[in-house]
Amino acid sequence: MKDIFEGNKAWVRETLAKDPSFFDNLSKGQTPEYLWIGCSDSRVPANEIVNMPPGSIFVQRNIANQVINSDMNLLSVVYYAVKYLKIRHILVVGHYGCGGVAAAMSNKSYGFLDNWLVSIKNVYMKYQQELDNIRDEEARVDRLVELNSIEQARNMAKISFIQEEWQNGNPLEIHATVYSLKDGMLRDLEMSFYSSGDLKSVFQINHF
Ligand code: CO
Repeated sequence: MKDIFEGNKAWVRETLAKDPSFFDNLSKGQTPEYLWIGCSDSRVPANEIVNMPPGSIFVQRNIANQVINSDMNLLSVVYYAVKYLKIRHILVVGHYGCGGVAAAMSNKSYGFLDNWLVSIKNVYMKYQQELDNIRDEEARVDRLVELNSIEQARNMAKISFIQEEWQNGNPLEIHATVYSLKDGMLRDLEMSFYSSGDLKSVFQINHF
């Protein structure tokens, strides 16, 4: 634990050297423009990889960046971000080489985690034909990483109060993205959601 507290002291020193009023400003409140749904993987720190300071991104991370529509933790974070912080951009950030996605593709047991991985297996089933045609295992995992990011962004669009916001005129945008551990680049998967109309009919909820 020594490293943690010493690291913190060093960070405070360096931050104040750069901007003496940094903490005075930060303690007044937060007005982040982005909500980040990412993987818990220690190599994908939200603020750092997009070069943004504390105060700019509201963050929720879990194993393999899942958006599960009955996850109270996820729903509470999204609700606060959208209704109170008035966030306009939601990013789902997958990453190549994701251990959670790789685990979901195998038949090996990871104990309790097997239950969390079911939703990724469901994504696999939706795209089974495309995925099974990819011979190289690493490439197959990486394609599922992309598809998982897209499907979690879609799940975000299915959330009732997100659709309610759209129908009230909030120009909320949901973007599926993927990060590469190999070169540090974040890529837009060009699958975004802007209205209930971007969902299949059965998922559309009319609030009027
Ligand atoms: Co991961």
